[in-house]
Amino acid sequence: MAPSINLKTAIPGPKSKEVVARREAAVPSGLYKAHPIAIESAKGALVTDVDGNTFIDFVGGIGVLNAGHAMPEIVNAITDQAQKLLHFSALVGTYESYVALCERLNEAVPITGPNKTILANSGAEAVENAIKIAKYATGRTAIIAFEGGYHGRTLMTLSLTSKTAFKKNLGPFFPDVYRAPFPYEYQCAMCTNACSGACADQLEKMLLTHVEPSAVAAIIIEPVQGEGGFIPVPPSYMKRLRALCDKHGIVLIADEVQCGFGRTGTLFAMEQMGVEPDIIVTAKSIAAGMPLAAVTGRAHLMDSVHLGGMGGTYGGNPLACAAALEVLNQFQDGNLLERATSIGGQIRARGEQWTKQFPGIGDVRGLGGMIAIEFVKDRSTRVPDPDAVAKVSAYCLQHGVITMRAGLYTNCIRLLMPLVITDEQLQEGLDVLEAAMKSL
Ligand SMILES: Cc1ncc(COP(=O)(O)O)c(C=O)c1O
Repeated sequence: MAPSINLKTAIPGPKSKEVVARREAAVPSGLYKAHPIAIESAKGALVTDVDGNTFIDFVGGIGVLNAGHAMPEIVNAITDQAQKLLHFSALVGTYESYVALCERLNEAVPITGPNKTILANSGAEAVENAIKIAKYATGRTAIIAFEGGYHGRTLMTLSLTSKTAFKKNLGPFFPDVYRAPFPYEYQCAMCTNACSGACADQLEKMLLTHVEPSAVAAIIIEPVQGEGGFIPVPPSYMKRLRALCDKHGIVLIADEVQCGFGRTGTLFAMEQMGVEPDIIVTAKSIAAGMPLAAVTGRAHLMDSVHLGGMGGTYGGNPLACAAALEVLNQFQDGNLLERATSIGGQIRARGEQWTKQFPGIGDVRGLGGMIAIEFVKDRSTRVPDPDAVAKVSAYCLQHGVITMRAGLYTNCIRLLMPLVITDEQLQEGLDVLEAAMKSL
C-alpha cells in the first residue's frame, strides 16, 4: 500500500513560510503555535498544507476530531443546516436541534437522571458555567482543583488551571481555589515504592488545613488529565472523591473536554471510573470542529441558577448542534469506540518496545485511545526531558507527522489522532515517531 505521507517540499514549504510570516505580523505572539505550517485542507486523519504536503495528523485539532476531519455525514449535516438557519440565539427563542442535542446528552452521560444540559461555545466557557451552577446550587464559593489540571484560559478557568506557564503575570486569580495533588503516579514523590493513596489522604487533610468542607461548592477533576500529560485517575481515587463529595454535599464536576466523546473507548471517561459525577463538561470532539461545548448534570443542580444567570449569544449555534447530533449518530454503533481501544492497544504495543529500546522513554500511559509518551533524561531518576520532546516533535513534522506536546513538565507527546485513522496510517505515523526517538 502506498504511504499516506507525501512531502513535496522541505517543511515548512515556501507557501507555509509566507502565511506564517503574515501571521507573525498580524497576530499577537502570545498565541502559541506548535508548528510553522499553514494547512489548506484535511480529510480523515490526513492534512494537506498550502504547499501540497500531506501529513498524518496525530493531534486532531487538540482532541477535537475524534470523528475525523470532514466526515461526509457531518459535513452534510452542517451544509443542510446552513441552508435553513445559521443563527437565532437560544436567548431569543428555541430551535429544535438545540433541544434535541440537550435531550441526547442528558441520556448519554453516565449520570442517573433526570439531567439537563446548557450549551456554550468553548470548553472554558462551559467550565465557567459548571462552576456557576455548583456555586448557586450549594450557596458556597470554594472550589478544589488539581495540580497539573487544565480547564481553560478565562479568568475563572485560569484560576483552576494549574500550570504556571499559562498564568504568568495574569493574576490575581479567583481567590477561593484550593489545589490538591493529582494522582500522577509516575512523577509522584508522596508514596515510597507502590502507590498507597497518599494524595487522597492529602486531599482529605486539606479539608482540615486549607478549607472547611462546608465552604466547598465543587471539586473539579479531569478523569484523564489532558494538558497535564494524559494521566488517568485511578477508579479507587475517584471513588474516594465521590465519597468525600457525598459526605460534605460537594458537587463533583468531571471536566471531559479533552477525554470525552469517545477518546478513551467509552463515550465518557467517567463510564470507566465506577462512580457518577454530578456534572460533566464536554467540548472539543462534541461537534467535530464546530465550536460547541456542553454542561450536563443533575436537573436539580442545573435548575438552581436564577433566570438570566447563564447564557451567551452564540451558545448552541444551529450549525454546531447539527454537527454534534451527527457526531452522536456516528458513535451509536460502537465502531468508533472500538477503534479508540484498538488504536490505544496498538500504541501501547509499540510503546512496550520503545521503553525497552530507548532509555529516554519513561512512561507510555493513558486510557483507551488517549495515550501519551513521557520522556525523561534517565529512567532511574525520572528527570523530565522537555528538550527531547521538542526534538521529537520537530523531527516528526519534518517527516510528515503532526504531533503535540503536553505535560506539567512539557515532556510528553500526546497522541490524539482521529479515531477514523486506518491501521496502516497509524503504523506509518508510529514508524516516524520511532525514527524520531532513534534520532535523539
Ligand atoms: C480538560 C480541558 N478543559 C477545558 C479546556 C478549555 O477548552 P477550550 O480551549 O475550548 O476553552 C481544555 C482545552 O484544552 C481542556 O483540555
